[in-house]
Amino acid sequence: PAPGWAIAADVVVVGSGVAGLTAALRCEAAGLTTVVVTKARLDDGSTRWAQGGIAAALGEGDTPEQHLDDTLVAGAGLCDEEAVRILVTEGPDAVRRLIATGAQFDESSEGGLALTREGGHHRRRIAHAGGDATGAEISRALVEAVRARGVRTIENALVLDLLTDADGRTAGVTLHVMGEGQHDGVGAVHAPAVVLATGGMGQVYSATTNPSVSTGDGVALALRAGAEVSDLEFVQFHPTVLFLGPDAEGQQPLVSEAVRGEGAHLVDGEGVRFMQGQHELGELAPRDIVAKGIMRRMQERGAEHMYLDARHFGADMWEHRFPTILAACRAHGIDPVTEPVPVAPAAHYASGGIRTDSHGRTTVPGLYACGEVACTGVHGANRLASNSLLEGLVYAERIAADIAGDPLHARVPAPVPYPEQPAHPLLPPEARFTIQRIMTEGAGVLRSAASLTRAADQLDRLHTEAREALQENGKTAEPGVDTWEATNLLCVARALVGAAAQREETRGCHWREDHPDRDDTTWRRHIVVRLNPDRT
Ligand code: SIN
Repeated sequence: PAPGWAIAADVVVVGSGVAGLTAALRCEAAGLTTVVVTKARLDDGSTRWAQGGIAAALGEGDTPEQHLDDTLVAGAGLCDEEAVRILVTEGPDAVRRLIATGAQFDESSEGGLALTREGGHHRRRIAHAGGDATGAEISRALVEAVRARGVRTIENALVLDLLTDADGRTAGVTLHVMGEGQHDGVGAVHAPAVVLATGGMGQVYSATTNPSVSTGDGVALALRAGAEVSDLEFVQFHPTVLFLGPDAEGQQPLVSEAVRGEGAHLVDGEGVRFMQGQHELGELAPRDIVAKGIMRRMQERGAEHMYLDARHFGADMWEHRFPTILAACRAHGIDPVTEPVPVAPAAHYASGGIRTDSHGRTTVPGLYACGEVACTGVHGANRLASNSLLEGLVYAERIAADIAGDPLHARVPAPVPYPEQPAHPLLPPEARFTIQRIMTEGAGVLRSAASLTRAADQLDRLHTEAREALQENGKTAEPGVDTWEATNLLCVARALVGAAAQREETRGCHWREDHPDRDDTTWRRHIVVRLNPDRT
């Protein structure tokens, strides 16, 4: 439908995690009128759930160069070195600015920042807050700052599509607002710059560490808008997610890598440590290697999960250093102080996303992407632990600087005529669970040509059914958040499966059982997707 209301701004930021709120604060500080729109409440995204922390070369003796080396190794040959260099050199000051904005990090007994280790890091360089509640503290500080500085926010606002002018430049977004009173229903925010910071797509799988709002909305919007998307096949499965049974669905409790960083052991059902000898860093190898080590041991032992043993921490350390994880385990009847914690890999992070340059610009003029939704090139085939909050911070600041410095953004866009859009074939809400099952079975941690072909066929069938229902009977599911979420999940799932089928090698977190080796001759390159409009 045509929007019933419209407002104008210099910048619209879509999403309210570390990337979105940092971008909004910096844009507002640069004198740009900024509106933040977010699908649920301001703190409902993934940032709040981040545990381990934020990586930056802040410790004595550490350098951005060493952080760069660790990031490139984890990225398995596909990082953009320049993008990583920006991340690691601008990172330390970006963290200091976050602290100046109000985030309170844990301090060591000497009074400096307390730093821990995680997989793939050769040094202690992970700053954390509240023990294992880093994301919650960052979210609190940024939400407070946004409110204190009077940045305009619209909550419960699902962004539908990008508006572009006759030259193909960004002109704003259409959105559906539920229950805000002043701006209910379908509306539009006109703006010459749109920053997508909508987070990840973990809900494309049955079991994930991501909250229920992580449904790939930004990538789906970007695909519909004709932007390029890259590296979708590199979905990171976190090695240690609390195992709650083989049929557990939805958001699962994370057991941070920092628990291993502080000395926990990964053991099998017989109590044998199995990561020793597999990598020089053992249990602190990069995340893809640990996830594969766990999966292999599970296959060898015919087990559904492995264990993380940190009984030697003792009650005091568990209570002070990892209160969130301790509470989550105890809520599920497991006491890490007295017993090993059952863990298994689950979907955690999209290393790929909307392709951007080093200023966060996508291939559509005026459209920016930042945070998990973006593919800046810093993660390559496998993100280094705790680089995600840092990427959100650093690239949000770069985006704000770019928008503020671009004279084109000083213009108020003339409201564009709303394109006569044919009704979109929307999926019924319950299709979400069908998509999750298809993706978990066919495009999960271990993939093959056969499993991916099966998944592609099943997803295509869902799409065809929705399109035929619309074309032949004029019927589609009622527009609403859950129908759009299911529709967006299908859109990103199809793109992800296509890329995973194409990449006939094993690299980083893309693991093909029919192509078990890394192939640098053919595959040291990116798979870039630009959607054919009739696939939307
Ligand atoms: C964790 O705490 O293990 C998660 C860190 C990350 O995903 O970077």
